[in-house]
Amino acid sequence: MKNNWHSSEKFNRQAADFDNNPRRTSIAEAVASAITKTVPLKGSTKGLEFGCGTGLVTMQVAPRLRHLTAIDTSHRMLGVLEGKLLASGIKNIETLCLDLSSAEDRRRLKAPYDFIYSSMTLHHIDSTAPFLGLLFTMLSEGGMLAIADLDLEEGLFHDDPEEKVHPGFDRKKLTGMLEQTGFEGISFTTAHTVEKKNRAGIQASYPIFLLTAQKPSAISLSTSPSPLP
Ligand SMILES: C[S@@+](CC[C@H](N)C(=O)[O-])C[C@H]1O[C@@H](n2cnc3c(N)ncnc32)[C@H](O)[C@@H]1O
Repeated sequence: MKNNWHSSEKFNRQAADFDNNPRRTSIAEAVASAITKTVPLKGSTKGLEFGCGTGLVTMQVAPRLRHLTAIDTSHRMLGVLEGKLLASGIKNIETLCLDLSSAEDRRRLKAPYDFIYSSMTLHHIDSTAPFLGLLFTMLSEGGMLAIADLDLEEGLFHDDPEEKVHPGFDRKKLTGMLEQTGFEGISFTTAHTVEKKNRAGIQASYPIFLLTAQKPSAISLSTSPSPLP
């Protein structure tokens, strides 16, 4: 399940200017606010953010956690985040340059986590269902998952037609994958809507969902053996 979509080269190129795009900062603010409203985080939570990029969401969510591991495949995106950490004095974020879909890279992580989240990264990872299964194994019992990404679109959101990405996600299909994996309490909200001219030159609306789901805290009764008569 190695990520062979090679997005790190593109994000290394974009890193220095990434935060100068108001569309990205608006998405990040809306996603961080939706996470704050919908996920019952406690100060004791140990979190993992995958695809943290320059930390636009990271810097807003981390103050609500005890510790956050922020990972990304692009060392330059992480470099921008590390600059922010130095400037702000925030101490509870550890950054790691690794590919979460690589088993070898994952050995550097200290799972389980109480909370795993991401914003606008799932569409960069090729095999969605196995990846969600992987996230399930990395959560502690009762742990929460929150993923923000594009609703299914016509494939024109991204400007580069050669870029290997999913054209957003169908909420029902994602729900099915999450249920299959064992998640409970699956719920979606619309965190934000991007209004932009797509690469065909057409002004269009692109909703961004925030999905939340929970790993059950114990084997559910429905899967337990029937009691003896
Ligand atoms: C569209 S950016 C979003 C960045 C940030 N979450 C935000 O909202 O501003 C996607 C990020 O995911 C990272 N990424 C892509 N595939 C990844 C993987 N398999 N593991 C970790 N990070 C990944 C990219 O390097 C990039 O920084």
